[in-house]
Amino acid sequence: MNQFGGSWTEAKMEIIVSYAKAYLTIMNKQSWVKTLYFDGFAGSGLIVSDGSDEIKKGTALRILDIVTPKPFDIYYFVELDSDYKEALEHTISTKYPQRNTHVVQEDCNQKIVSMAKFLNNNKNHRALAFIDPYGMSVNWKSIEALKNLGIDLWILVPTGSGVNRLLKNDGNIRDAWIIRLENFLGISKEDILKHFYKRQTTNTLFGEETQLKKEQNIILRIGELYKKRLNEVFKYVSESFIMRNSNNAIMYHFMMATNNPNALKIANHVIKPKYKL
Ligand SMILES: C[S@@+](CC[C@H](N)C(=O)[O-])C[C@H]1O[C@@H](n2cnc3c(N)ncnc32)[C@H](O)[C@@H]1O
Repeated sequence: MNQFGGSWTEAKMEIIVSYAKAYLTIMNKQSWVKTLYFDGFAGSGLIVSDGSDEIKKGTALRILDIVTPKPFDIYYFVELDSDYKEALEHTISTKYPQRNTHVVQEDCNQKIVSMAKFLNNNKNHRALAFIDPYGMSVNWKSIEALKNLGIDLWILVPTGSGVNRLLKNDGNIRDAWIIRLENFLGISKEDILKHFYKRQTTNTLFGEETQLKKEQNIILRIGELYKKRLNEVFKYVSESFIMRNSNNAIMYHFMMATNNPNALKIANHVIKPKYKL
């Protein structure tokens, strides 16, 4: 069973479910549209709270529970872990047998690219995608494949829990981490250093020495950069729902990218009550 991360887990699920209902209400009025729900990190279907026995439905099942105004025409769930994939498949086949569902055990990146091809070849389909990784598993190249498509993409960006941890204070970042940052943000090492660090000169016994120093408010900066990157692929990107841990440290930014101005309005509307800096 997937672990429950904290109160933000519930808030995140409420946001995507509220958005899905509004999305289906709009799509219901466009009878030619076939709707696809794509969940790139679907989990087992159930989540358990840390330190308690409480078991809750995960997002996948909450989305399958939506019947009003209508269910999605197709559901596509991606889950890399074989036990979780089987658990989800079992629940779906017993509790939601009438739905048109696909559950695959694959890396989400491959399936994002497959979805892009599918949407390119099936112009009457519109997708709502939910990308909910624990860490920096989504490559920028996968996101780029979604350019100019009829997709609303909700993505959890591990700004504090992922990217910030790799950005060492003195800019001395090991090669493997630089590669992870480059793959995730889709920018070069040079641009990463330029964006997140400033040069600081100090007078020492042996003259002036220049060192790199991490910028202030770095996690917000990471969130802004990811939003800017998404805006190069999609016309609109929503505000972020900012998720903090019990020490008030920012862990994630949750945001939505779309080519549809009405979708943007709805996203900002469902985030607003939860939105805080
Ligand atoms: C945060 S959990 C998902 C929780 C789920 N979205 C929910 O709300 O119930 C992330 C899941 O992604 C799976 N996972 C990790 N890496 C993956 C990858 N590269 N592709 C697909 N799934 C992956 C993990 O096994 C885990 O079940």
